[in-house]
Amino acid sequence: MDSADVRDDLDHVLYTEAQIMARLREIGAQIDADYAGRELLLVGVLNGAVMVMSDLARAMRSHMQMDWMAVSSYGAATKSSGVVRILKDLSCDIRGRDVLIVEDIVDTGLTLNYLLDNLRGREPASVEIMAMFRKPDALRVDVPVKYLGFDIPPEFVVGYGLDYAQRYRNLRDVATLAPHVYN
Ligand code: IMP
Repeated sequence: MDSADVRDDLDHVLYTEAQIMARLREIGAQIDADYAGRELLLVGVLNGAVMVMSDLARAMRSHMQMDWMAVSSYGAATKSSGVVRILKDLSCDIRGRDVLIVEDIVDTGLTLNYLLDNLRGREPASVEIMAMFRKPDALRVDVPVKYLGFDIPPEFVVGYGLDYAQRYRNLRDVATLAPHVYN
């Protein structure tokens, strides 16, 4: 889906598909260099990270492996606790592995903070974070993002895996929604 296909639903485009792909090529090259000689396990966080996982993996020139987790917050009332429920756990044992969590967006940081703690407890050789977007003004916990696509303002965005009511994940660009969509 292109921005033109849902023009009336969008306020403005923050990053185009081309800008996202260019940034991912840079990050892929950096990861190749940083992990030279080691085979990295990319852990994607479903569902939002599907697009970034797919493009980041192909931007890399080294062998890598993929696994997935699905998590959900314990509902709005307790979201501030940062407790998340694991809906789907990893299929593989990460003990002794080099792990890179691949996430679509860091908002408050609570989800990643929990995931990082959880994966560290499984004794990997290393665990780091790659996030395509981050909202620095919304952060509530300091999450060490080693590889970052772009910092963005604290607005709700859709596209490139990010949804509003499960829609717009297939939008190629990343954009803010027009107010009438929320109403
Ligand atoms: P956090 O725990 O507050 O950092 O939230 C992270 C999760 O909230 C992300 O993985 C997204 O699924 C979702 N999220 C946060 N901000 C946005 C947004 O602007 N658009 C769509 N989803 C978002």
